[in-house]
Amino acid sequence: MLRRVNFYSICIAFGLSVLLILAGSRYTDNTNYRPSSENRRNIKNIQKVEDGEELLQPLPTNADDGSPDIEKIIEKTRSKIKFELWNYNYTASGVNNLENLLMESGGRPIRSLIISTWRSGTTFLGEILNAMPGNFYHYEPLLKYEIIQIRGPPHADKALKTIKNMLKCKFDGMEDYFEYGKGHLHQFSHNGRLWDHCKYKKELCFDSEFTARFCKQFPFQSMKVVRVRLRLIQEILQDKELNVKVILLIRDPRGVMQSRQHRNFCQPAPDCWQPELLCADMISDYVAAGRLLNQYPDRLMVLRYEDLALNPNATTYKLFKFLGLSVTSSVTEFLRSHTSVEVAGVSSTFRVSRDVPFRWKNVLKFDYVEDIQITCKEAMSLWGYKMAHNASHMLSKDFYPLEEYSLVQ
Ligand SMILES: *[C@@H]1O[C@H](CO)[C@@H](O)[C@H](O)[C@H]1NC(C)=O
Ligand SMILES: *[C@@H]1O[C@H](CO)[C@@H](O)[C@H](O)[C@H]1NC(C)=O
Ligand SMILES: *[C@@H]1O[C@H](CO)[C@@H](O)[C@H](O)[C@H]1NC(C)=O
Repeated sequence: MLRRVNFYSICIAFGLSVLLILAGSRYTDNTNYRPSSENRRNIKNIQKVEDGEELLQPLPTNADDGSPDIEKIIEKTRSKIKFELWNYNYTASGVNNLENLLMESGGRPIRSLIISTWRSGTTFLGEILNAMPGNFYHYEPLLKYEIIQIRGPPHADKALKTIKNMLKCKFDGMEDYFEYGKGHLHQFSHNGRLWDHCKYKKELCFDSEFTARFCKQFPFQSMKVVRVRLRLIQEILQDKELNVKVILLIRDPRGVMQSRQHRNFCQPAPDCWQPELLCADMISDYVAAGRLLNQYPDRLMVLRYEDLALNPNATTYKLFKFLGLSVTSSVTEFLRSHTSVEVAGVSSTFRVSRDVPFRWKNVLKFDYVEDIQITCKEAMSLWGYKMAHNASHMLSKDFYPLEEYSLVQ
């Protein structure tokens, strides 16, 4: 008993001293740049960044040539991650301590990969995962392919290689990726913990060596991909070194198409604009999911966006258990602040209320819904989405679009 009390007092004392050191450095170290706390990053902060207010803080630089002091950034990031995870329960992640999850210490991070398609709720799901302290969000590594789906040759090999490299924090030989990012900074800015540094000096984000070193400091690594179908992901599941867990995120094609109407990138691209292509992919994903779940029962989880949006808390707990993550207070805080009241969306974060998944019912004309339903009959029946019979049925309270579905044959 005494021993346990001692243990806890040591833990508390350690926590307090880390807190004091950090608090101290906050006030004495005023000339140095300090990244803003992800925990407190919220709509206000995003606005601030857009207004350029935070740009006033200087980046640590070398005295001799004025270049960013990479050693200092790495060092500060290391202590910040340690501090933010000081009371994290590593048992949930199957290891003893933080170092076991750090590539820079020879450990293996917890890696997750969201496979989905445009406008299927990946922003919301991606940000739930990114609410974990110590998470490196690879965002979408395949932006440079623009609006196409990759289902096989000619792009599959290269795209899969890119995904694998990035999940291993290998950024050499990725010139295309960095080149594309120079003209499309959102490729980096969704990775807030990286962007915290690049926003002061964009060149850091184009620097493969820095990116690799920085990446290897993070115990949790997440990625979302909306341009590769699940069938091809087998190759990534096979990679034992990666040990990645995959989440397939599916959404009602009527909701997807409604949401895509508001995106001007979509219309000219058949893979984005034609329901028959979307729904053929949903069938292909269904078949692949059944097969891969047999082969890798612990490494694939299938999720419908509607189930997540209607039950964010329970679904998040289930998802984190599957990934081997302990739900932290920053995650519950994210859910609390993003799933309650509806507000006009600022930036890309939005509130998911119970109405969001079924908004299409009130927005789409029944003729268009009927077209989608005819085209998507099979995909919808496999994934448990019910048909609306006519315009009044679609709008009536009695029509609940979801039913159970099953992936076991
Ligand atoms: C850590 O998590 C494990 C399993 O997830 C649990 O059994 C254990 O009680 C937890 N430890 C603490 C200190 O909360
Ligand atoms: C969220 O779900 C977990 C696990 O099911 C539960 O323990 C917790 O009380 C829930 N929290 C809220 C706010 O509903
Ligand atoms: C619409 O569909 C509902 C449910 O199938 C049916 O009861 C109703 O008669 C239909 N209304 C019209 C106008 O066809």
